[in-house]
Amino acid sequence: MRLLARAQELWHKGYQQWQPPGSRRGKWLAFIRKLELERSLAVLGSEVSLDKISSVLEIGSGRGDQAAVLAKTFSHVIASDVDVSSLQRPYVTPVVACSAEALCFPDDSFDLILSSNVIEHIPDKVLALREMKRTLRPGGIMVHVVPTLFCQLFTLLVAKYAFQGMMLVSFFRELAKCRRSREQRSSPAGTHVSCGGESKTPVSASRGYVIRVLRLLLPLGVHGTAPNTFQEILEYRHCSWQSLLEESGLVVLTTRNMLLYSMYMILPFRFLAVRMWLARLGITTTRAYVVRIAQERNRGSRQL
Ligand SMILES: C[S@@+](CC[C@H](N)C(=O)[O-])C[C@H]1O[C@@H](n2cnc3c(N)ncnc32)[C@H](O)[C@@H]1O
Repeated sequence: MRLLARAQELWHKGYQQWQPPGSRRGKWLAFIRKLELERSLAVLGSEVSLDKISSVLEIGSGRGDQAAVLAKTFSHVIASDVDVSSLQRPYVTPVVACSAEALCFPDDSFDLILSSNVIEHIPDKVLALREMKRTLRPGGIMVHVVPTLFCQLFTLLVAKYAFQGMMLVSFFRELAKCRRSREQRSSPAGTHVSCGGESKTPVSASRGYVIRVLRLLLPLGVHGTAPNTFQEILEYRHCSWQSLLEESGLVVLTTRNMLLYSMYMILPFRFLAVRMWLARLGITTTRAYVVRIAQERNRGSRQL
């Protein structure tokens, strides 16, 4: 019953609640983000000399963990987010509150613009990418880590239903407990008995749980800004990201697969070798895109 209540909370208040920073799941998420950043910098290093990059803008910094790592590699890093309330204090880098769709920086400000798991949350992606182009110096470079098709497929088809399976098992266990408790107490029909800490008749309690479990099972969650899951799956395909970037006047230099994991962060740190092997085969939850501006000629390009 506690697990079911936890699932409801998770469903309604967002899955971040499932992975508070100090918990094992929180550590797993931090591990994934660190790995994604390391891999992004490695693939960036294969395209440009990192020594030549000094000014860096991170879009959608979230807690600011990645900006802190970037600040160890580059001399001038700015963390930005539309909502800076979750940025950890004390700030390691300058922090700017602004939307990616209206960046509050002058033209040609940065050598590198990086975002991790952000673009899928931005309502007007083309406008945001245009803003990033404007603030990128001639010859500058961008790295965007975005979810793939497998992010949604794996989360929905495997993790979501495995997770909800756990909820169902817990529900039937609790139901059996309620029945036993009713028999033992032999309370008169219709009176309230204690069942998993709640005071309801077993029948009405179990009806409520069935409805809750069904509610959990039916809707397919949407992660970003797409109107529904199916649209989201289409938008997360490699060809869709590639067209979005190209339509925004960017050219993809290279990509790098990251790791296979689910949004529910279940089985943290398990099967790491298998996850990495699958990611190498293309079955990955996120992928990094290293991009440049396609038309650099008019901007007096100086390649890094
Ligand atoms: C899933 S979190 C990722 C946080 C962090 N980059 C990470 O990898 O852990 C998405 C972040 O994007 C930010 N975000 C959403 N829409 C944005 C926008 N239009 N402009 C800037 N940041 C935005 C959110 O506030 C949130 O911090």
